[in-house]
Order: sequence, then structure tokens, then C-alpha cells
Amino acid sequence: MTVIQVDGKEYEVESGANLLEALLSAGLNVPYFCWHPAMGSVGACRQCAVVQYANEEDTQGRIIMSCMTPVTDNARFSVATESATGFRESVIENLMLNHPHDCPVCEEGGECHLQDMTVMVGHHDRRYTGKKRTHKNQYLGPLIGHEMNRCITCYRCIRFYQDYAGGTDLSAFSSRDRVYFGRAEDGILENEFSGNLVDVCPTGVFTDKTLSKHYTRKWDLQSAPTICVGCAQGCNTYTSERYGEVRRVNNRFQKDVNGHFLCDRGRFGVGFVNSSKRIKQAGIRGEDGLYQAVSLPDAIARVRDMIAGSQHVIGIGSARASLESNQALKSLVGKENYCNGMTDIERDMHGIIVDVLKSDIATPGMREVEDYDAILVLGEDITNHAPRLALSVRQATRNKASEMAAETRLALWQDAAVRELAQNSLSPLMIATPTEDRLDSPL
Ligand code: SF4
Ligand code: SF4
Ligand code: FES
Repeated sequence: MTVIQVDGKEYEVESGANLLEALLSAGLNVPYFCWHPAMGSVGACRQCAVVQYANEEDTQGRIIMSCMTPVTDNARFSVATESATGFRESVIENLMLNHPHDCPVCEEGGECHLQDMTVMVGHHDRRYTGKKRTHKNQYLGPLIGHEMNRCITCYRCIRFYQDYAGGTDLSAFSSRDRVYFGRAEDGILENEFSGNLVDVCPTGVFTDKTLSKHYTRKWDLQSAPTICVGCAQGCNTYTSERYGEVRRVNNRFQKDVNGHFLCDRGRFGVGFVNSSKRIKQAGIRGEDGLYQAVSLPDAIARVRDMIAGSQHVIGIGSARASLESNQALKSLVGKENYCNGMTDIERDMHGIIVDVLKSDIATPGMREVEDYDAILVLGEDITNHAPRLALSVRQATRNKASEMAAETRLALWQDAAVRELAQNSLSPLMIATPTEDRLDSPL
């Protein structure tokens, strides 16, 4: 651990961390935009300024960006001194010059990082009365909305999309004081992790169109912690509803599983839950042949009576239903009349999988995969079958860069510097599949 002094108080912080991370972990409030815990620091927004003093005699200090500063033993800082607070206030005032005054209609409202930071810094008067810079928005497909006027140029979006997720169709375009984050032309975002743009953008530039369709304010949603059913990775999610309809799914941080990110299937693939074709009410066909709605206990009692009086009832379970539901069906119809919904071949294959998993073979979680030196993928299109795992495999290819950074004693959170140092050096990733794979072109 490392001991630092902040505004006259001592704090024990993690050695090797950057100062912003250390201050936030110590419970101190420092505003920031471009730093992201999973993507490190690039020093783009200048919002995390604090003052560093050279020694005990130094009363003036100098402004530094906390996200770009390593913690060192007995280093002295101030978050609260007037020069630091004044600097941060002027940064946010400048960032807000061109930001529209559209919070009341903005979909990010209520969970907007920019709103929170603006309030934290105490910026409440707009002195600028000139014309605001405006941009044309793009059609980015049915899932992601685009409102570029809200951009504060933090670069998080392309750092995630290009650097972290390997996407190639979203870029920063600029001409003099205009910077534009979008595609070369209108079109559906190609990367299978595009939904994370909604989360990483600290303001309302990228929005969830599936939520916009039946928009509801975030504070009117009721959310519950859930596990994604899109594949077997079990990413942690929050599912939110209003008026009995699922309105959105978003990421629930789980450091050993999905961390900060989800795949688009998990985030956007939940619409079937609201389908009018789903059977939501138990029913029984009456003697007149017409369907009558009945309560669930009545329906179960009726089915039980039918089973009791018949020799020809079978129960077909499903791998998609819960273990409890399958077990309940099995007890109802009896073991000999129950089928788990799989063919014999499928059942045997699952048996083999279960045996392998029970053996000593390593079955790493997604976080663990990110630390691997070399990866061999044998006959599996993981981007399709376990998408979030593919994102972890991409991060593992950066371990060569981490090694090179360690040799030059460069901290890993210095994201731009580490990428610059590594250039195209990647850790080995070998994919043996009969067809092309999205991972064929890693970072
Ligand atoms: S679009 Fe959002 S994430 Fe991208 S630079 Fe602008 S504010 Fe940052
Ligand atoms: S990888 Fe995607 S589909 Fe699979 S559990 Fe995670 S979010 Fe869901
Ligand atoms: S968070 Fe430090 S410069 Fe942006």
C-alpha cells in the first residue's frame, strides 16, 4: 500500500494505482469523464484536476490531472483548494458551452454522468450566450440512437468501440474545432457490443432505442437483479419493467463474470418477453370447445385430475425451463412418462459435457480468461455462442502489451501510452474453425 496526503489527511491507497482511482476508492469526490475503470486513462477531458505539492514548503502547488498521475509514498495533493475547484469549474463550463439545455427531454436524464458531475462541480450559471455548435445525427440501426449535439468530446465511445471491442465502423472525425463521433455514413453499427456505448458515453449521445420506443423516466422503472439467459455465460444484468412490460436490460457489474460490459444479444434480446403471443394466462377448453381463463391453481388441479385418470400422459420438459419446473413436471407425470425435451444424442452429449466439467479440467471464468498468455479456440465460434467471452479473449490478446509495459515500468492504466508502445504486438490467439470468425481480426 502507499500513503498519500490529501488536504492534510493521510490515506492508504493501492500502490500502482492512478491518483483518481485512489481518491475515488478512498471515498473522495473528484469529477471525471474520460477515465473508465476498465479502459484506463488518456487525460482527454481535463475534468479530474487536483493540485500536487512538491514538498511541505510548497504552498502554491501545480495543477495535475489525477487520472494521469501515479500515487507515490507521501505525495501531497489537494482536491479542495481554490485553484483546483476553480480549474474544474472552468473545464465544465467550457464543456457545457455547446451542450444543449435539453435535460428535461433527454433520455439520459436521471442517470447522466454529465448531470452528476455538473452538480458536483457546482456549475449552475450559463454565461455563454452565443450560438451553440450543432451536428447532424446519424441512423445507427434499430438499437442505438444518436444525438451528437450532446457530446463533450471525452473519447470514451471510440476507445470502447475500437480499442476495447475491436469495432472498425465508428470513428472520431474532426475538422478544426469540430469533432464528430459516428460512422463514415449512416448505417447499422456492426460490432456485437455496440450497446455498451449507451453505458460508456457519459452523456446522452448514444441512447437505447428499444427503451426510447416506450420511453419511461429511469426513476419510474422497477428493476431487479437478473442473470442473462442469452447464453451459458450467465452475465449479470438488471432487468427493468413498467406497467408489467420489460423496458430494458442493462449491465450489473460483476467483477469475475461480465465486469462492465454486456453483449448486444443480452442487452437487446429480451423483447420476446413482451410478445402478445406468449401464453400469460392459464386456460381450459370448456365442453363447448371454447377456451376459458382459469387461475393457475385451478389449472394445475385440473391437469392433475386428467393425469390421474389416464395412462397416456407424457410430460415434455425443456432445457430452457428451470430445474425446479422440470422436476415439478417429472413428479406430476411420473419418471417413466417424463422426457427432458432432448433427443437421445443430445442427452448423451450433455452427459459427456457434465462429466468433463466434473473432472479436473480448468473451466475459467471470463475475467480469468483475460489474464491468459495464449489461447487456442478449437472448433467454436465463441462470438456467436458466448459473445461476452469473445470480448474477454480480445482483452487477453493485449497481454503482450502488458508485458512490454511492465518491462518499461509503464503503468497499465496509461492506456494510450501502452497501446502506442505495443503497436500491433499481440499475445497468441489461435482459432481452428472451419469458417471465418469475428475474432480473426483481433485488436
Ligand atoms: S459521444 Fe459520448 S462517449 Fe463519445 S466522445 Fe462524445 S460524450 Fe464522449
Ligand atoms: S454473453 Fe451475452 S448473451 Fe451470453 S449471458 Fe452474457 S450478455 Fe447474455
Ligand atoms: S478523467 Fe482525467 S482527464 Fe479525463
